[in-house]
Amino acid sequence: PHIPVICVDGPTASGKGTLASEVARRLGYHYLDSGALYRITALAATRAGLALDLAHEHGIARMAETLPVRFVDGRVLLGGDDVTDAIRTEEAGMNASRVSALPAVRTALVALQQSFRRLPGLVADGRDMGTVIFPDAALKVYLTASAAQRAERRHKQLNLKGIPTTITALRADLEARDARDSQRTVAPLKPAQDALLLDNSEQSVDESVAQVLRWWDEKQ
Ligand code: C5P
Repeated sequence: PHIPVICVDGPTASGKGTLASEVARRLGYHYLDSGALYRITALAATRAGLALDLAHEHGIARMAETLPVRFVDGRVLLGGDDVTDAIRTEEAGMNASRVSALPAVRTALVALQQSFRRLPGLVADGRDMGTVIFPDAALKVYLTASAAQRAERRHKQLNLKGIPTTITALRADLEARDARDSQRTVAPLKPAQDALLLDNSEQSVDESVAQVLRWWDEKQ
């Protein structure tokens, strides 16, 4: 049967995860946080002592192919280890961006990502969901917000968790990550040709969710 997919792609800290997981919840669909797979791969490679560079591309890709990863009740498990918090740091994000620029690593994660497409449907967020992983998705959203807004939101999030940072440092960090993600040769961050653009700089989460659900209704 045809299994519907909604893709939400966009730059770092644009609110993709919040939007995509809420849309999934409202529709009763599965949810794929593809960035988590790159974060987990980077963590597993670091723990195995591999530098995150081209010299280890194939070693890291082999690890990615057989990642013992499970998503259970909102927790992320790597083997027997709960890595939910370890993969959420800024450093983990930057490391994910490094391994994600290695072509063999991206290829190694394709089948795993596509395996999340199960009935009754899937909402997937990332950088290349609409361009590479689910090119036939019925709805592709490209979510953006200004760098200033994104840095401020990330700052609030981290503050709540008691992690000290400055908006200036966060903004530099996310701009560096966006630059790397947009400039890589394989699956660079860019809107799919048939993506609908959503700028949530001035929008609440509820408003963005409502917009995506309206677009989805219009497709039915
Ligand atoms: O979305 P998140 O910030 O968790 O992603 C971490 C990093 O993983 C991104 O900066 C990007 O380099 C990479 N990524 C990717 N393709 C995806 C999802 C994430 O290259 N589909």
